[in-house]
Amino acid sequence: MADAKIIDGKAFAEGLRNKVAQEVARLKDAHEHVPGLAVVLIGEDPASQVYVRNKGKQTIDAGMNSFEHKLSDEITNDELLTLIHGLNKDDKVNGILVQLPLPDHIDEARVLAAIDPAKDVDGFHVINVGKLATGDSSAMVPCTPLGCLMMLKDTLGDLTGKTALVLGRSNIVGKPMAQLLLGEHCTVTIAHSRTKDLPDVCRNADILIAAVGRPHMVKGDWIKPGAVVVDVGINRIDAPEKGEGKTRLVGDVDFDAASQVASAITPVPGGVGPMTIACLLRNTLVATCLQNDLDIPEI
Ligand code: GUN
Repeated sequence: MADAKIIDGKAFAEGLRNKVAQEVARLKDAHEHVPGLAVVLIGEDPASQVYVRNKGKQTIDAGMNSFEHKLSDEITNDELLTLIHGLNKDDKVNGILVQLPLPDHIDEARVLAAIDPAKDVDGFHVINVGKLATGDSSAMVPCTPLGCLMMLKDTLGDLTGKTALVLGRSNIVGKPMAQLLLGEHCTVTIAHSRTKDLPDVCRNADILIAAVGRPHMVKGDWIKPGAVVVDVGINRIDAPEKGEGKTRLVGDVDFDAASQVASAITPVPGGVGPMTIACLLRNTLVATCLQNDLDIPEI
């Protein structure tokens, strides 16, 4: 197989953000609604701080209101729940996102359950998980798998009948990804660290989604020739070739080897990563329309 097509998530995300911005402008003109997204960040985790800063900037660039709540990791469960109840009631807030992971003393399940499902732009509330599983089109769909699906459909068109392998079973990516692919009529397998004969299982897949968080775990000879590979992993590894103490980001897939076998592949960085925030903006727009009984734009 010749070199795979590189799926440009950065360009795709920019296109999606532009479409969201156009719809936001239309919403303002026609209905005087400005969608608002509240992001709650607890503690000082540097990676989470970068994500939240980027979310805030891109929300404003799309013409939406951004409300940031940066809290000390001393906050109690009750204080956090009080904040969420306030955001649920606030008409200016259409979307609520609590950045994960949370500190150990915070009860994640209780916090996610406290978010109004209509404002749950992450799609983590059990109501939205259930809606996605039952094919209810009003589900808020988790952003990272939604971004993966958009790129897959753009690359392959109709996914009906394709064999899809989702490597990873997290609530944030693996499980919702499998539901989305089922909804597209794929034959879906979920594999994980304890799957037997994993390379063979992977070799059967027309579509391979890697979301395990292990650098370069998926080797070139695990991939079916001509498969489409979507790499969700963002792993920081040492890069002595760049100089002492330097690091670089790599995915869960051995990109150089895989791109000799696959027909198309997402790079890391610049693949799935930029799509997550673009889909968050899309979900905030969709949530605003649903809350106000307005038509949902086709994006
Ligand atoms: N942490 C890593 N990814 C995500 C995400 O998609 N949403 C939230 N809330 N936290 C995250």
